[in-house]
Amino acid sequence: MEEDRIKWDERYTGDSYFFCFAPSGFLARCFETVRPLVPGLRAIDLACGEGRNAIYLAQHGFRVTAVDISPRGLERGERRAAEVGVSVDFVQADLEAFRFDERYDLILDFNFLLRPLIPLMVAALNPGGVIVMETILDTPSIEPGHTKSFLLQPGELVQLFEPFAGTVHLFEEEAKGPTPVARIIFQKAG
Ligand SMILES: C[S@@+](CC[C@H](N)C(=O)[O-])C[C@H]1O[C@@H](n2cnc3c(N)ncnc32)[C@H](O)[C@@H]1O
Repeated sequence: MEEDRIKWDERYTGDSYFFCFAPSGFLARCFETVRPLVPGLRAIDLACGEGRNAIYLAQHGFRVTAVDISPRGLERGERRAAEVGVSVDFVQADLEAFRFDERYDLILDFNFLLRPLIPLMVAALNPGGVIVMETILDTPSIEPGHTKSFLLQPGELVQLFEPFAGTVHLFEEEAKGPTPVARIIFQKAG
């Protein structure tokens, strides 16, 4: 959506990175669990922003595509990848109209909720492939200003994966604090 591109381009225009340089704490924490599960090293990071998580995967040997609607975010990602000496294929696309044209061993989705994308993500996994997802949960403690439809409801994330054959290796909700989140590690049946 053009509205999203404009909003995120503005956020990625300031002097400092909107997100920190380090990967998501959850990704770094679960990586040792996820690494032995994945059947190969082909990955895609959806709504990658400035590329922190895509770059982390590339640093760990994955061949990574990173998709976002914001050209400014992607430019930053490209710069960062060059600085740290890794290659990531940054692609500008609207995920509301996205079609996966490859199969992946690992799909990341951090801080982005588009419910109709989830069946497409599962279909885009190789057998045994893994989805790692963390996004914001709607609880009474959440800081104001979030668009309600972009927030997960308690218990919802695991329900979104119920229709699919596979294993939920982790599902957790951190309901306290200004940015409550839900997390899942789902592995498609082999
Ligand atoms: C909260 S940021 C998360 C960035 C990244 N996943 C991270 O955790 O560092 C949400 C991202 O979604 C992207 N986005 C929003 N709507 C989108 C759409 N329709 N298609 C693709 N990307 C979109 C924004 O440009 C932004 O980079």
